Amino acid sequence: MEILVTGGAGYIGSHTCLELLREGYDVVVIDNLSNSHKIALDRVEKLAEKTITFYEADVMDKAALENIFTNHHIQAVIHFAGLKAVGESVEKPLSYYKNNLISSLVLFEVMQQYAVKKLVFSSSATVYGVPENTPITEEAPRATTNPYGATKLIIEQMLEDIAASDSSWQISLLRYFNPIGADISGLIGEDPNGIPNNLMPYITQVAAGRLEEVNVYGQDYETHDGTGIRDYIHVVDLAKGHLKALQYSYYGVEAFNLGTGIGSSVLDVISTFEKATGTQIKHKIVNRRPGDVAKCYADSSKAQKLLGWTAEKTLYNMCKDSWEWQSRNPNGYLK
Ligand code: NAD
Ligand code: UD1
Repeated sequence: MEILVTGGAGYIGSHTCLELLREGYDVVVIDNLSNSHKIALDRVEKLAEKTITFYEADVMDKAALENIFTNHHIQAVIHFAGLKAVGESVEKPLSYYKNNLISSLVLFEVMQQYAVKKLVFSSSATVYGVPENTPITEEAPRATTNPYGATKLIIEQMLEDIAASDSSWQISLLRYFNPIGADISGLIGEDPNGIPNNLMPYITQVAAGRLEEVNVYGQDYETHDGTGIRDYIHVVDLAKGHLKALQYSYYGVEAFNLGTGIGSSVLDVISTFEKATGTQIKHKIVNRRPGDVAKCYADSSKAQKLLGWTAEKTLYNMCKDSWEWQSRNPNGYLK
């Protein structure tokens, strides 16, 4: 079975390609490498001992997509391609609207044209905006607080309209919480450009000596230790969730939270990282980061019930595997 993976060279995409190959799927990737390196896919091929068909192209390029759908018997699409940095989306909203919305629009049009109507879409917990209650269920109201989040919400709405107009579509909206970790091999992992915005890559770069100390954004939240609580999920568990969504047999559109249901504070993550890796993470408390919420964690019981999926790896595993990747690749893919 041939699966098209857009953005397959990226962090979550490369881990999902590996799981797909391990499960016997044939994988075709389209990626413009705007935020990734081809070497990630070379390493996936090495780990799986199988090959990937790779197209270096933009998903906005309709002719490139038509060429792929003409030359392959694509049966389903996993759509990761997109820009994902919240802060950058506030500075460059047009780039985000253009890239994320036009690529999705063109992809869905071409899928319709070639009657390929099974889609797994990378959505995000960001569609819940500032959550009213935790744990968050899929029925929680949707709202956005930045252009990146707005693109996810608009694409979700676009897909709901497509499914309503044509009952032969099978669409999963996977709302990821906070993906961290890496394949246990330490050969593939998250490789952010510049100084990381997100907590785990920041911690691993402090551990590697690339950054001096972690700024803990606020210790005055209403949480057990005053620092922000999130639902960290191992990227391999997340990748496996995509396979479950592909195998789920239904018509229409369904949203699923992919998280562990466990909330961990910033200080919990730092102390677990220290235990799992035997390193010391220098950190200091600074002001809250604007736009952050106190608590965000998932109710993932729908994914458990309908997809038969649950996250298996612990925060300890996530920290250990993140560090294995970072310590083997101190400068990411480009040594
Ligand atoms: P990533 O940046 O590592 O991967 C995205 C990939 O898409 C990159 O390889 C990039 O080169 C490619 N790409 C971007 N625009 C493209 C285009 N127009 N044409 C072709 N390729 C394009 O990001 P990731 O962390 O792997 O995230 C994958 C998806 O999951 C994204 O849609 C992201 O918004 C979503 N998501 C990520 C997180 C997270 O914390 N990492 C959380 C929630 C949702
Ligand atoms: C980020 C994204 C969000 C996305 C989510 C899941 C931002 C602003 N938001 O959210 O859209 O859905 O990831 O991928 O990027 N922290 C520190 N010091 C740091 C970095 C973070 O204390 O140097 C804290 C934050 O305040 C937060 C927690 O660590 O409490 C996690 O932060 P981060 O990794 O950036 O993820 P989110 O803010 O949850």
